[in-house]
Amino acid sequence: MKNTASLMKMKTQGEKIAMLTAYDYPSAKLAEEAGVDVILVGDSLGMVVLGYDSTVNVTIEDMVHHGKAARRGAKNTFLVVDMPFGSFHGNLDRTLQNAIRIFQETGAEAMKLEGADEVLDVIRLLTRTGIPVVGHLGLLPQTAGVLGGFKVQGKTADAAQKLIEDAIATQAAGACMLVLECIPYQLAREVTAAVSIPVIGIGAGSETDGQVLVYHDTLKYGSHHLPKFVRSYAETGEDMRSGIAAYVTEVKSGAFPAEEHRFTMKEEELEQLYG
Ligand code: KIV
Ligand code: NA
Repeated sequence: MKNTASLMKMKTQGEKIAMLTAYDYPSAKLAEEAGVDVILVGDSLGMVVLGYDSTVNVTIEDMVHHGKAARRGAKNTFLVVDMPFGSFHGNLDRTLQNAIRIFQETGAEAMKLEGADEVLDVIRLLTRTGIPVVGHLGLLPQTAGVLGGFKVQGKTADAAQKLIEDAIATQAAGACMLVLECIPYQLAREVTAAVSIPVIGIGAGSETDGQVLVYHDTLKYGSHHLPKFVRSYAETGEDMRSGIAAYVTEVKSGAFPAEEHRFTMKEEELEQLYG
């Protein structure tokens, strides 16, 4: 099991961190078996698992439900769970209660929070409480409504400067790791050099300390739009659809079930039954 110190060591030794999302028992189990360093139960589950158009519909209950299932599938992998939209703003006491609940019930190693500014107080509070925090800067899907959609962030010098300052402040607030989403690779490189905590990129080029992708994108599982920054490594959805179609065909033709799938009653029992 990796911990915040061993992840830090990977950064200093230049060993890339492979992070992948997972949302339930089988996906987390496969990720662990395949050697993923960090599993993220992302609120992207709202889109890829629950079929919403955005992540803002995801509830604390959803995160707990899926986080617990992922934990059961990957007992020995560093597990991060997202705090969902609306669960960590407005009131610090309520925020802390929400974080403690998700942290305790899922058994995760860390919680991830989108944003800086007022979120820095939350990162400080959680860290002091004993909950490791992963920051998340750049494109923040929970605020896509305000950002005007899913767009590359930090493209201007001013926006880039602000993001670098936010990253440094996120580290100073106590974050153990930082995710950068959808920013120019030059900015991601700059941020990675500016902080000592591991920086994990998604749509942020190759010069971060590691990468994260969404499970369903990586395996092409489920029909949805794939962003430019994704590489898919399997055709899982296609395999599943053709498997299901073959099952339907064999049920209709009677080819399934075959003799080896059935149970048999002895002749003498049958005679007794029919007299
Ligand atoms: O929810 C998620 O999957 C994420 C990653 C894209 C970083 O936050
Ligand atoms: Na997320």
